[in-house]
Amino acid sequence: MVSFSSDQRFIVTGASSGIGRGVALLLNELGATVIGIARNQKRLEAMKAKAKYPEHVFLEQKDLAEDMEGLPAYVKALKDKYGKFSGMAYCAGSVPIQPLAATDYNALLETLNINYIAPVLAAKGVADKRNNIGAGTSMVFISSASSLISDKGHLTYAGSKAALCASVRSMAKEYAKNRIRMNCILPTNIKTEKSPQEYIDSQIASYPMGFGEPIDVANLAAFLLSSEASWITGQNYILDCASF
Ligand SMILES: NC(=O)c1ccc[n+]([C@@H]2O[C@H](COP(=O)([O-])OP(=O)(O)OC[C@H]3O[C@@H](n4cnc5c(N)ncnc54)[C@H](OP(=O)(O)O)[C@@H]3O)[C@@H](O)[C@H]2O)c1
Repeated sequence: MVSFSSDQRFIVTGASSGIGRGVALLLNELGATVIGIARNQKRLEAMKAKAKYPEHVFLEQKDLAEDMEGLPAYVKALKDKYGKFSGMAYCAGSVPIQPLAATDYNALLETLNINYIAPVLAAKGVADKRNNIGAGTSMVFISSASSLISDKGHLTYAGSKAALCASVRSMAKEYAKNRIRMNCILPTNIKTEKSPQEYIDSQIASYPMGFGEPIDVANLAAFLLSSEASWITGQNYILDCASF
């Protein structure tokens, strides 16, 4: 059974809503200490208010798409504040819907920044031996099934998530000798507090078991972060119910 102790600290980005919120709450419930990062302080505090062990939840308000070059140093500053990390769940992201005709350099860069460049540079910070516990450190990155089967208008989104999957495989090979693991989760549709009902209604017929919930992603993330998954690295896990 997956469980953690409070001296196991995990960074959870995107902890203010949706999947990241679900991951933060489950890791905390399973005993871990969570450092939850997002821009919206109110929503971060609302997440903490739901935590089973709020004394083991710490909040950091931060725009991860700002000062991208400083992200590894930001992770080190968090380590100096809280102690060495057992890992990270990178759940922050944005889902722009843009046809090619509406896509330009800045739009591409904006999506790549939060969905691809920030997770890689945050991983660089966590993988730095000064900042982690060494063997057993584990990171999970929320990619998307769109990286494999992308829909119309998802060109920047799908590209950013495919890039993330590819880089995580490479980083995992680099760090396997250190027993530092990195895996991606590729969910299909997950119903969050932000999912528009019209969108759910338009897609639900393809989902024989209904949309997923943040807890479904959180359960897989917690397993991959735990010692139960100590022989799993460099993998891309599709999380789905036979929708494609
Ligand atoms: N929901 C789905 O169906 C689904 C399916 C496949 C993959 N995914 C992926 O899962 C991840 C989470 O999705 P979600 O549905 O949970 O979305 P969500 O509810 O919109 O959550 C996104 C999170 O990212 C944070 N965030 C966004 N931009 C940020 C920035 N610049 N700096 C810091 N934090 C930032 C947001 O917090 P603030 O706004 O407070 O900063 C929020 O906590 C995304 O990468 C998404 O692509 C979702």
